[in-house]
Formats: sequence, structure tokens, C-alpha cells
Amino acid sequence: MPTPPAPIIRSVAALREQIAAWRRDGAKIGLIPTMGALHEGHLSLVRRALAAGERAVVSIFVNPTQFGPNEDFGAYPRRESEDVAKFAEAGGHLVWAPTVDEMYPAGFATHVAVTGLTDGLCGPFRPGHFQGVATVVAKLLLQVQADHAYFGQKDYQQLQVVIRMARDLDIPTGIIGVPTVREADGLALSSRNIYLSAEERRAAAQLPRVMRETAQAAFAGEAPFAHLLETARARLAAAGFGPIDYVSINDAETLAPVDGLTRPARLFVAARLGKTRLIDNIPIETTTA
Ligand code: PAJ
Repeated sequence: MPTPPAPIIRSVAALREQIAAWRRDGAKIGLIPTMGALHEGHLSLVRRALAAGERAVVSIFVNPTQFGPNEDFGAYPRRESEDVAKFAEAGGHLVWAPTVDEMYPAGFATHVAVTGLTDGLCGPFRPGHFQGVATVVAKLLLQVQADHAYFGQKDYQQLQVVIRMARDLDIPTGIIGVPTVREADGLALSSRNIYLSAEERRAAAQLPRVMRETAQAAFAGEAPFAHLLETARARLAAAGFGPIDYVSINDAETLAPVDGLTRPARLFVAARLGKTRLIDNIPIETTTA
């Protein structure tokens, strides 16, 4: 028998009523913020909330303020009915899908900016992106007032920005980072992978492979980091990637670039394959996440 669809709420007022009713019942609530086009990566976050015994609320909102003028806001996949069906099948409880006007009513004038953590990696390549993310995530956290909110390590810089923002603003929701879900060939699941042609999809498998080998070489101390990163860049370029925004090893907490392993560090890559921008990151100490 098909699973009945999870209810969809589109106004802050109706959302507050539902949350209040759950609170009266003593239920715990888990929020999974997304932009939709749900895949197994998103569903792994839903399952974490359910495993914690929480009512799982997924937000589906393609947030215009985190896209640059030349980015893919218009083309971003929107498939709400499929998303609702997948979410319900996974056991999720409520879909929070506000309109742009509900999220940003006329006169909206407040922004949240996290400094420092946004200086490097994707920051310079996507001006305004993290301010758009921090602002909408602050709103989502305040709207849903969940016990926990779940974010993927796939977007590691975003995860760190959200942790910092929630801490700095005394938002009491616990922020939980969840490991990256990958395809069999290692490519991290992403809503944007549907942009890849069949040929690009095959080439895309070189990204996790080059990353894994670079991380292993860095951990083994085979050569100075700068040299390993140059080799990785050249291998990605040879596989058809370009432009390559960055290939970098950074502190896992501060995200500052590092050239040695005194603290936990990760390898980060952002590169275009055709018109698709792919990002990924893995820890240096192991090669599994
Ligand atoms: P979106 O790209 O839809 O991702 C929603 C959440 O799913 C993020 O926390 C992201 O890190 C996680 N995710 C994506 N791919 C994953 C994978 N392969 N494995 C595990 N988790 C994965 O990130 C956003 O939306 C937006 O910026 C948002 C936070 C919703 C703010 O608009």
C-alpha cells in the first residue's frame, strides 16, 4: 500500500500551531533544511532524526538569496510531489514549504553574516552565498524551534557556518553534522548531479578518486601539501574539470589552510565539470566519510 503523503504547511502561522501541538504532546522535533530534489543524502538526514525518536520536519525552500546572479536559481530542480512522496516513504512527518513571499515578506531587511569562516573556500567564489544561507537557516531554526537540525558534511563549510551562527545567536537547536552519502563510484550525491551528461557523469568519478589518493598521500606525508595539491589539480584538469576553484587542505574547525597535520584537517575541492559546479571534502586522517 502506498504511504500516505506527509502534510505540507506553507505559512509560518500554521507551522507554529503544528509545532505547539507536538510540544504539548511532549514530542521531540528534528529539522532537515533542504532545497528539495531529495536524494539519499537528504534522506540519510531524515533517518538520523527518526532514529533519535524525533518528529522529522523537512523544509523545502529554494532560497533565492543564496544564489549569485549568474548561478542556477532558475534552473534548480523543483519536484515537490516526488519529494513529498520520498519523504513520507522514509517515515517523515511534516513538510515545511513556504513561498518566497512568506519567507521574505515585503520590507524584509535583516541579514545574518558569519565572518572568518566564510573568507576562504567557496566564500570568494560565491559572494553573498553564505550570508543568504546563514539568514535563511537562522529563520528556519527560529520558525521550527526543533531540538536538533541535521546538516550534511557534504557542504562542510556551510555546516561550520551554521554551527557558528547558532552558537553566536544563542539559538538553542543542536546542530548535527552527518557523513556524506556517495554513489558506488564515490561521487557524492547532490541535487546538481542531474545536470551532468552521461560522459561528464563518468568523468565525475575521478573527483572522489583523486581526492582519496591525495588525502592518503597527505596523511602518509609523501610530499609537501602544496605539491600534492598541485598534482591533484593537474589530474582533475586532465580528467576534464575546469575551471578548478580550489583544491585545498584546511583545518576541520577553523577552515584556515594548513600545511601540516597538527590538528584534524580535510581536503576540499570545488571544480566545474561542463556547466556543473561540484564540491566535495574528505577528512585527511581517514578516507571514508
Ligand atoms: P541542499 O543542497 O538541498 O542540501 C540540504 C542538506 O542535505 C544539506 O545539509 C546538505 O549538506 C545535505 N546533503 C546534500 N548532499 C548530501 C550527501 N551526499 N550526503 C549527506 N548530506 C547531503 O544545503 C542546502 O540545501 C541549503 O544551503 C540549505 C541549508 C537548505 C539552506 O538553503
